[in-house]
Amino acid sequence: MDARAAEVYDVVGIGFGPSNLSLAVALEEHNIQAPDDPVTAFFFERQEAFGWHRNMLLPTTTMQIPFLKDVATFRNPASRYSFVSYLHASGRLAGFVNNQTFFPTRLEFHQYLEWVASNFTDRVSYGAEVIGLRRPEGGSGVPTCLEIEVRGGASRGRRSVRARNVVVSTGLVPRMPEGVPCDDRVWHSSQFLTSFRRLDRTGLRSVAVVGAGQSAAEITRYLHDSVPHAQVHSIIPAYGYSLADDTPFANQVFDPNAVDDYYFGTDRARQAFWDYHKNTNYSVVDDDVIRDLYRRSYEEDVRGARRLHFLNLTRVSEVKRAGDDTRVLLMNGETRELEVDLCVFATGYQAMEPTGLLGELDQYCLRDEAGRHRVERDYRLTAGPELPGGIYLQGGTEHTHGLSSSLLSNIAVRSGEIAESIVSRRRIERELERPIPAEHAGNPR
Ligand code: FDA
Ligand code: NAP
Repeated sequence: MDARAAEVYDVVGIGFGPSNLSLAVALEEHNIQAPDDPVTAFFFERQEAFGWHRNMLLPTTTMQIPFLKDVATFRNPASRYSFVSYLHASGRLAGFVNNQTFFPTRLEFHQYLEWVASNFTDRVSYGAEVIGLRRPEGGSGVPTCLEIEVRGGASRGRRSVRARNVVVSTGLVPRMPEGVPCDDRVWHSSQFLTSFRRLDRTGLRSVAVVGAGQSAAEITRYLHDSVPHAQVHSIIPAYGYSLADDTPFANQVFDPNAVDDYYFGTDRARQAFWDYHKNTNYSVVDDDVIRDLYRRSYEEDVRGARRLHFLNLTRVSEVKRAGDDTRVLLMNGETRELEVDLCVFATGYQAMEPTGLLGELDQYCLRDEAGRHRVERDYRLTAGPELPGGIYLQGGTEHTHGLSSSLLSNIAVRSGEIAESIVSRRRIERELERPIPAEHAGNPR
């Protein structure tokens, strides 16, 4: 057993995307402020290097949050890991300000995230996938930590580590229509750039993009530029793309305070968040991309040379594949086939669901009447005393904490709340010299 395996960490993070990166920053800043009460943390990331939706880093695409909603500023405006610090370190502060925008390109924000992540390489194992959690075996008495089983990383084999707390942050899960498998000509948007770069594009005559969200609109625009000899079909279930509402009043649903309004609100209040404000994020597109696509379409009309086609009020139910032949089944009242060389499904994502990772431990986690995990206000899964540690969620809490759950908007504050919860629970446990059962703390939902 190596030294790392023998050690029991205070925190192990599963996944090292922006959410757990933000937690790493919060914990480091705690350790600087409270050197007598440090928290030990380690993170596992299955990608070989830090990467944030790399397959969608399309040229000119911009962030959907202002740069101030970086991994630290809303929790600690003086953090050395802010986006402004990054700009300063990279000599672009003046240039960025001259550019007069709140919304950097996704490429620049990715560079920023990589810059922050480069400070934490001693606390992250890349190429390391967590395959499950369990109760540690052996020892006498009730275990007080969780065992995390990992495949890959520096050792390349399987190993396990122990932690008093685990923070699950494994991200969104790509969603395809039922019964449609991905292959070399049928992709989900999350595979886009890697698959597109591999493809021989010379023979492409006709391509299709399914969906009417931000991913679909951005990929449609990109294909229109990148395969200038091909017909581009955008298959959209609505009559046209709908606008993402980022106006100031609506945008308040992503404020840190909105989490309390959602968490402690009535069922009716929570439902109102969804009924009135789902269009801040889902199945909607930014204004500039909508206008760009419409302008392209109109210019083609003027020139009498149309190759950008919008198939509206249409859904895709099936794809028939045979060799290079790809037929997409379109449904808009009647069913018809569209023959294409490539079909990209920008059909969205499912929320993070920790059940698979929890394995046998899931039986100790409480669920609500709808069968969803109960989660404390501090993002800790509500569990019985048999669970030998704390399991926190970053993501997968839309039913308890609201719309910002899967987004970047609140990650700095959320990570601070999780760090604070871990530190204060540890302090109370030390004082009491026994673990506090989860149902006696927080306000479970
Ligand atoms: P994220 O998915 O980024 O990270 C999870 C990490 O966990 C991944 O790196 C994954 O490899 C790793 N992982 C998964 N399972 C693992 C396992 N078993 N073991 C080890 N590692 C594992 N939101 C927003 O607010 N503003 C925006 O501008 C955008 N832009 C945007 C663009 C695109 C193309 C998409 C698809 C989504 C967005 N989003 C967004 C929403 C998006 O969810 C958000 O930006 C972050 O990715 C959330 O960060 P997380 O760290 O929670 O998940
Ligand atoms: P999304 O918003 O969930 O959109 C999925 C789209 O696919 C919807 O229009 C949906 O229509 C449609 N769809 C699903 N099944 C279909 C079918 N069988 N046939 C036809 N259409 C179908 O997903 P997304 O666009 O990937 O966005 C996900 C998240 O990533 C959002 O938070 C978004 O803001 C973010 N994002 C950000 C950027 C950026 O920062 N620049 C870029 C891309 C994505 P229905 O709603 O009718 O089912």
